[in-house]
Formats: sequence, C-alpha cells, structure tokens
Amino acid sequence: MSKVDNSRLAVVVLAAGMGKRMKSGLPKVLHQICGCTLLEYVLEAVDPLGAGSVTVVVGTGSDDVVGTIGDGFRIVHQAEQKGTGHAVMVALKGLDPSFDEVMVLPGDAPLITTATLERLVAERREHNAAASLLTAVLDDPSGYGRVVRFENWHVEAIIEEVDATEEQRGITEVAACTYSFDRAALEAGLSTLTTDNAQGEYYLTDVIGGFTAGGQHVVPFCGEPEEVMGVNDREQLAEVCRIMRARVNSRLMAAGVAMIDPATTYVDHDVEIGAETLLMPMTFIGGKSAIGKRCRIGPCTSIHDTTVADGCEVQFSVVDGCEISEDANIGPFSRLRPGCRLGPGSKAGTFVEMKKTTVGRGSKVPHLSYMGDTTIGEDANVGAGSITCNYDGENKFPTTIGDRAFIGSDTMMVAPLNIGNDAVTGAGSVISEDVPDGSLAIERTEQRIVPGYRDRKKGNKRKDK
Ligand code: UD1
Ligand code: CA
Repeated sequence: MSKVDNSRLAVVVLAAGMGKRMKSGLPKVLHQICGCTLLEYVLEAVDPLGAGSVTVVVGTGSDDVVGTIGDGFRIVHQAEQKGTGHAVMVALKGLDPSFDEVMVLPGDAPLITTATLERLVAERREHNAAASLLTAVLDDPSGYGRVVRFENWHVEAIIEEVDATEEQRGITEVAACTYSFDRAALEAGLSTLTTDNAQGEYYLTDVIGGFTAGGQHVVPFCGEPEEVMGVNDREQLAEVCRIMRARVNSRLMAAGVAMIDPATTYVDHDVEIGAETLLMPMTFIGGKSAIGKRCRIGPCTSIHDTTVADGCEVQFSVVDGCEISEDANIGPFSRLRPGCRLGPGSKAGTFVEMKKTTVGRGSKVPHLSYMGDTTIGEDANVGAGSITCNYDGENKFPTTIGDRAFIGSDTMMVAPLNIGNDAVTGAGSVISEDVPDGSLAIERTEQRIVPGYRDRKKGNKRKDK
C-alpha cells in the first residue's frame, strides 16, 4: 500500500473503446499477454495506490470485461464511444463529491508501473497544479498524441497525430493518456470540450491545452518509453508481450531460476517457479502452474495449469491440467492430458499419452503407451506398447493396475478391468477379464514351428521360373 493518503483520489480506467485496429471480436482490453488481460495489468498497477475509488469505463463487450476483472470496482457504462474526454465525463457523473483528485489512465497500456502513477500524483500535489501528465520520448512516435511545449519548455498542448501539422508530427515526445487531475479543474475543462477535430470526438487531451491557455499549471513527467506503450493493433500487442515476458523472466532469474535463453522461454505472469530449476529453450509454462525447485524443464515443452513438485524432469512434452509429484520423469515426447497425477519418482516416458490417469509412487510407463481412465498402484511396470482400451465407441471405462504388477509389452487392457497386485500379463495379450493378485494372464495362440520353411519357399520360387 502507498504510504501517502489517497483516500480522496478517484482513479478512472478507460476501457470502453472498440479496438477496431485489432480486427477482433474480443474487446481490446481483454486481449492477453503472458496469460493476463491488458486491463488486469493496468488494475494491478493501480491497486497499491490505495485510491478511494477505482472506476472502469466499459462499453464494447462490457459483460465480458466486467466478468474478467472481478469485484471491487465502480463500473460505468459508456454506451457510445465518443472519445476519451467523453469517457471521463461519463465516469465523473455520480462520482462521490468527496473525491477531489482524479487519475485517468487507459486500459490498453499494460506496462505502466505503480511507481510512475505514484509520481504523477505526487508531482501534481507538490506543484498544486491543475494536472500532471505522463509523457515519454519515443524513437517512433507515430500514432500517439504529441506534446507541444512552449519555448520555456512548459507544456502548451497535446495534439493528436491526425490533427497535427507536419512540424508537430516531428515531435518525438508523446502523451500517455495518463494523468492526475484536480477534480474541479478537470470538470471545468471537460465542459469546454468540442468535437471540432479530425475524428469528431471529445478529446481528453484538449483539456490540457485549455488549462495552459487559461494560465493554469500543468506538470509533465517524462517516463520510460515502454510505460506509455498502448496496444492498438496486433503488432503492438506482440511488442508489449515481448517486454512483459522479459519482465517476468527477470523476476524469475532474480529468484534463482536458470534459463539458457530467456528470449525463447515463455512463462506466464502468474506462474511460480522454485530456485535452481532450469528452463531450457522453447519452454512454455502457462495458466495456473507452479514448478518446484531443482527441476529441469524443456527443451520444447508446454506445461499448462499444472503443478510440478521439486526435482522433476520434463523433456519435449505437453502437459496440461496435471499434478506431478517430486522426482517424476516425463518424456521425451509424452502427452499428459487433464486429470493425470504422477506419483513420486514415477515415469511417463517416450511417446506415452495419458488421460485421467494416476501413476503410483515409483511406477513406470516408459515407452509407447496409452493410459486412459487408469489407476496404477506403486512400483508397477507397464511394458512398451501397452494400451488401455478404455472406449467402446460410446462410453469410457476404467482400468486399475495393482502394486508391483508387471504388464508385458503390447498388452491390450480392455476396460473395465482390474489387474491385481503382483499380477503379470504375457506380452501381446488382449486382457479382457480381471486378473487376480499374483497371477499370470496370458492370451495368445500357441506358437507353431514350420521346419524347413525358408528352403521350401525358395524351391517354390525356382519352380515358378
Ligand atoms: C490516446 C490519446 C493519445 C495518446 C494515446 C496513448 C486521446 C484523444 N488520445 O490515443 O494522445 O498518445 O492514447 O496511448 O486521448 N476509450 C474509451 N472511450 C472512448 C474512447 C476511448 O473508453 O470513447 C478508451 C479506449 O478503450 C482505450 C483508451 O481510452 O483504452 C484510449 O483510447 P484509444 O482509442 O486507444 O486512443 P489512442 O488513439 O491510442
Ligand atoms: Ca490506445
């Protein structure tokens, strides 16, 4: 929580825009980077301010937006998107009069930090200004509003690119659409806005020009370029995602996680990873996942909504919705589908697929197998090429394999089926009846020997000629 008292500060997050340039049916602020929506990052940066109220202005796809952010926000609907100035007018309607400061920021700029927002609030208060505003100097300012300054370097106005002169377009300092306002000054400024501009919108930016024309003070704060980066199109989404990924990776490395190549290591924002775990290139860890200490993950591995305990190894594999206990070994080339639980020291090896399957402590499924709806006890071994036939075309049935059972290679287990503790199946068997504890089940025709077969065949060929 912020050390300063922000109980009379109201924050307004603008999130009603259509996001036309994304060419998507999804409201713009709900596009994701590193597993969270753009809007969630903005709200996460706002939260530690301890503001007395946080308003989110919603419009397009408002139900989805409201559903994503959860409780604790004042939601205001902007039915028609008539510009950023209009969005703030709508937000202030009905806002408790006890709030005498208003911070405004866009919902599409996810790299903003709490420290910068705190600075904006502090700067405005310190100078008793009508507004403070966040700016940045960009190599390529195209698309952003430009900050026009007087000769004495005070801010004069913000001019949108489409309304700018050739000379103004040459300015590289841009406005972030992020401000802290004195509420009374803001309300007075909004009441003078018109739609007399290239886009026919009420521009919030014009409030700034109004202040300075009226001799009111505006304090700029020039921040880091990435903090102002707004997402208007897919290319900007990818760029912002790249920066967020680097932030996530830096935090993990600072906490002791090793990465061979951070640029090809893709970890979502909410994932936790223990110290001394090594992430190899082309590894994706997302959703609600947590990885323990001293694991070795990758290369070329995707882990989603999965917990992996300490000391595990996962190579060239896809794991989704699973629970992996300590010292388990997965891959190369395993696919573990939702509902699998691998016990301590267990193994899902090469070309193994599992679904809703529990593998007990120390049990191994090392090669070329499919286990579906199966419960395997402890210290069992499932031979290469063995498969649970869990589906009859209409329904799925379970299989259980007991402790220390030994499943011969290429056993077809036709479910529903129970294979007992210490039971054995003969290689190549189709097992469709339960196997009692300690028994062997074998299902094969007896082997026939045809003596001299090869020579006989050769003789036949000679006759043909
Ligand atoms: C805006 C600023 C520009 C600044 C840039 C920074 C204006 C007029 N322009 O331009 O100076 O450089 O942000 O990223 O303020 N929104 C609403 N209701 C509306 C219109 C927009 O809620 O009626 C929301 C959008 O969802 C978005 C934010 O306001 O989150 C900014 O709108 P957007 O259309 O992206 O403005 P820019 O053209 O990027
Ligand atoms: Ca924008």
